[in-house]
Amino acid sequence: DIAFAYSEPQGAGGETRQVAGGEVPTMTTQQGIPVGDDQNSLKQGARGPTLLEDFHFREKMFHFDHERIPERVVHARGYAAHGYFELTDSLADVSRADIFQRVGERTPAFVRFSTVAGSKGSVDLARDVRGFAVKLYTQEGNWDLVGNNIPVFFIQDAMKFPDLIHAAKPEPDRAFPQAQTAHDNFWDFISLTPESFHMVMWAMSDRAIPRSFRTMEGFGVHTFRLIDAKGKSTFVKFHWKPKQGLQSVVWNEAVKINGADPDFHRRDLWDAINSGDYPEWELGVQLFDDAFADSFDFDVLDATKLIPEELVPVRVVGRLVLDRVVDNFFAETEQVAFCTQNVPPGIDFSNDPLLQGRNFSYLDTQIKRLGGPNFTHIPINAPKCPMHHFQQDGHMAMHNPRGRANYEPNSWGPTHGGPREDPARGFTSFAQEAEGPKQRVRSETFADHYSQARQFFVSQTPIEQKHIGDALVFELSKVERPDIRSRTVSHLLNIDGGLAQTVAEGLGLPLPDAAAAAREPLVDLPPSHKLS
Ligand code: HEM
Repeated sequence: DIAFAYSEPQGAGGETRQVAGGEVPTMTTQQGIPVGDDQNSLKQGARGPTLLEDFHFREKMFHFDHERIPERVVHARGYAAHGYFELTDSLADVSRADIFQRVGERTPAFVRFSTVAGSKGSVDLARDVRGFAVKLYTQEGNWDLVGNNIPVFFIQDAMKFPDLIHAAKPEPDRAFPQAQTAHDNFWDFISLTPESFHMVMWAMSDRAIPRSFRTMEGFGVHTFRLIDAKGKSTFVKFHWKPKQGLQSVVWNEAVKINGADPDFHRRDLWDAINSGDYPEWELGVQLFDDAFADSFDFDVLDATKLIPEELVPVRVVGRLVLDRVVDNFFAETEQVAFCTQNVPPGIDFSNDPLLQGRNFSYLDTQIKRLGGPNFTHIPINAPKCPMHHFQQDGHMAMHNPRGRANYEPNSWGPTHGGPREDPARGFTSFAQEAEGPKQRVRSETFADHYSQARQFFVSQTPIEQKHIGDALVFELSKVERPDIRSRTVSHLLNIDGGLAQTVAEGLGLPLPDAAAAAREPLVDLPPSHKLS
């Protein structure tokens, strides 16, 4: 629909000028000054030099020079869309969260899917975990469920996250490989980190090469809490189940698609929504109490473990529909800031040490990535409910407090005194008891690293198991150091003997002996952290 009022030839080169008129607006500077010539800088004479006085040139160039912001330190490549969440089954019995009260009510949503390791310009079909981050603009503030398409994570303690990501990203000297798990540093770290092997099984499975964002599950991963009106807590795990079904490609297809169309996933989402084929997911919850948590074979605070759906069935309570693409990729998809600590009253955290660390990390990184403390003023991040607080000033402040008082307590009346706290409606942290010495420790209840990895592997069909074996052989064949390959295979012996054998043969390695596999890994772990 781009129409120009009229064009006229201009200049010795005969270049075309496209000028304003009719419905076509006049170009201005950022200060609103009408622009007469956007083709030529201001010069002294026909052949220069260019003059410093040229404010239009300087503004245009300075702004261009500052267009880039840092890409996310992880999940840099992503794609997002708008939609809504609709409650289909009330959770009022277990949570006071406003979003869970009234069946049929819709809450605006913004969802960003991503890969983890690749840079912003990397390919869509890399073998990688996918981010599934959901921002729900509830009537009691934004709830961010910052999840992945795999229900467990590589590590148990946030302390190890920088190491995991350093090891997974391109190697520091050569800056490759890009968006690949196929390299020495990644497998070196993994093979020295037995807790990662459950997630490694998922990452080597077809789940890590989804056919479409629309055909992925999503998981909150951590155990969270729901809190009812009386302050009672129920543990919860969150699940997104795609109505489109779960679908993946095979590696051969992934490699070809990456070459033919590196934007395959983003194009797929854009085309589906624009053609009215709105993707939909069910929100499921696994609810359990302290008694179940105590009886469970694993620790519910350990993010490398899931809760089998046979033990705690998933209760479907709502649906998420994506029905609108963004107007502007940078303004929305790039600038959106999800944070695990954004929870409304009625939802609370568990003591999962990974979740506790995430609660610090997201806000910290976003203050840098988005240029200061006021990124909640960017429309995509702003709550859609009433908002009143005394935070003020700072770079890019758009909404400073109104009225006389910017502090409390104050003795100004309702017009000038500003907002007041609300003990009845406000967020109250769950009053969990805590005891014990202050110490750096990993709980012994986090020590079984292989049982659920094994359960996952044996739950796969033969062809899916073959894909896992093939993926391990492919990825490890890119690893140069034989000791890293061998150490990885020795862990596989603890998961499935047949798988270990297949991978060893595929790599042309002798099968490490069982004693080697049972040995302590080469890291120094506290005495409490023995392998089972
Ligand atoms: C993005 C940290 C674990 C899912 C990020 C970002 C950081 C981060 C710094 C970039 C945020 C931004 O620039 O806006 C961490 C730390 C973790 C951790 C420290 C562990 C200690 C996880 C886990 C999940 C997850 C377990 C899934 C359950 C995501 C997603 C994004 C993200 C989906 C992208 C959000 C978006 O689309 O903007 N993470 N992360 N992360 N993380 Fe994590």
